[in-house]
Amino acid sequence: MKKLLDLLSEEVGAAFEKAGYAKELGKVAVSNRPDLCEYQCNGSLAGAKQYKKAPIMIANDVAECLKESSAFEKVEVCPPGFLNLNLDGDYLKNFLNDMAKEEKFGLEAPSKKLKVIVDYGGPNVAKPLHVGHLRSAVIGESVKRIIRYMGHEAIGDIHLGDWGLQMGLIIAELKLRKPELPYFDEAFEGEYPEEAPFTISELEEIYPFASKKSKEDSDEGRAFKEDAMECTFKLQSGVRGYRALWKHILNVSVTDLKRNYDNLNVSFDLWKGESDVHDLIPGMVQYLKDGGYAYYSEGALVVDVKEETDTKEMPPCMILKSDGASLYNTTDLATIMDRMKNYHPDRMIYLTDKRQSLYFEQVFRCARKTKLVDEDTDLIHIGFGTVNGKDGTAFKTRDGGVQRLEYLIRDINEEMFKKISEGREMTEEEAKQTAKLVSLAAIKYGDLSNQPSKDYIFDIERFSSFEGDTGPYLLYTVVRIKSILKKYATQKLSEEGLEADEKAVSEALNKMVDITNGLHKSESESEKKLCMQLATFNAMMESAYEELAPNRICAYLYDLANAFNAFYHETKILSEEDEEKKLGYLRLLKFVQIVMESCMDVLGFSAPEKM
Ligand code: ARG
Repeated sequence: MKKLLDLLSEEVGAAFEKAGYAKELGKVAVSNRPDLCEYQCNGSLAGAKQYKKAPIMIANDVAECLKESSAFEKVEVCPPGFLNLNLDGDYLKNFLNDMAKEEKFGLEAPSKKLKVIVDYGGPNVAKPLHVGHLRSAVIGESVKRIIRYMGHEAIGDIHLGDWGLQMGLIIAELKLRKPELPYFDEAFEGEYPEEAPFTISELEEIYPFASKKSKEDSDEGRAFKEDAMECTFKLQSGVRGYRALWKHILNVSVTDLKRNYDNLNVSFDLWKGESDVHDLIPGMVQYLKDGGYAYYSEGALVVDVKEETDTKEMPPCMILKSDGASLYNTTDLATIMDRMKNYHPDRMIYLTDKRQSLYFEQVFRCARKTKLVDEDTDLIHIGFGTVNGKDGTAFKTRDGGVQRLEYLIRDINEEMFKKISEGREMTEEEAKQTAKLVSLAAIKYGDLSNQPSKDYIFDIERFSSFEGDTGPYLLYTVVRIKSILKKYATQKLSEEGLEADEKAVSEALNKMVDITNGLHKSESESEKKLCMQLATFNAMMESAYEELAPNRICAYLYDLANAFNAFYHETKILSEEDEEKKLGYLRLLKFVQIVMESCMDVLGFSAPEKM
């Protein structure tokens, strides 16, 4: 279905043409003087030179021709030649009624269905998730859902950091603590135990401990680091016991990660990691050498990625270190190669902290130059800003440490539980479930409502407020609508002497309030505003997709919620006596509800029944 602004532009363009001017001049935009009109067209000013005519004359000619148009209830010419326009109520009603009949409210399916890999999350095995991991997960999940909602295929890949030095550090430390384990006995030929020799808590204690030790400026520290590097090397070259131990680390860690991401309503199609492409590296290195792309510089194998037009420093992309070890780049390039072979995506989108921007630029250039990707494969990095505390520096716990994501979410849930339990009639279980949904919306909306590249302040008090530009405010609006609708259905059922339990009410609602049965023409200013906001859905979703910007959807939702609440406060809905008119209102409410819920689903959170 066409976008409202495009339809209006066609309408005005036709009038320009009819009056003898170019139809391209008829571009309509939302008015920047909402006190004067809803839309405007400035084409007469643009055409003045070309037609050697005063803009006001052109505007008058066009306005004359617009008299026949059914799209506008008001066409006003304003000096020096603006066309001020107000939308016709019936035209708006018809637009919305068409929109209501479409599955995705008028969003058009793409002409070509693309396959997109979204690389997000990116946690490192055995390191607990902290608040810094939130953005990649939350924005990435939403970007994936936006792509799917548009009608493309999106594959989410977590790209675990599971192959580097952190693995060697853990193995080296385990070797010190539990030297009796069979994994360290090179003569051992039997089956290794199925049970991991550690729990997730032990693992999470071991990693920071070992990492700290390896950085110590002492003989012990240096020797330990040496050993950890050796362990990494042995693991990567396939020493049996080390591989078996690594598998345990991976399994224990992935089980825990899955639980954490589940709590965030984030899920991945692929749980691949850096380790998965290890065996592809020698072949890729050979290919890069054979193609004449890679050369040795001071012992390291590199590919130049500088371009003549560069104004900033662009170091070469390093493929192998001088000791022959592979790097972060190497696994990323091999992953690109692997993805091209197995999925052949049209695009790959990466979500990380923006401090990795230069890194991705190097990797992308290298992949392009060496033809690891096709010419038309899109490689995109979405670099996001930092999560800051109220003091404007990176978010920390009260004692200055790194806050574990799990505890942070748990604390927010508990606060929300208290808030929701107070003065509301709910069982404890219901309040818990509700608190979980509301806190998730608070956290996700707090993040997603910002432009991804900007830093933001993690202000949980503000995010959790039921008023203002927050997730809970949006949920509250949806809950309010649901409760009005339910009240209506309950009344109807009891009037007929029927039982009104939850199931009966929801079934009755589906029958009685069907948005495809049509809305009425708006009668009040606030109702029209609400309808106009609703009508921009397809245009909004399209630009959220084009810009890969969940914040667009957030802004739309907030405006829609405000428009709804303004309408609600000045309209008698359930007490409306004219039954037909009441039904029209209820359909509008339901329409707002389902559009809001669809948007929320694309953002990755949902509304409870009550709150
Ligand atoms: N594990 C990486 C990190 O902690 C993020 C991975 C992002 N994805 C990628 N393909 N490089 O920085």
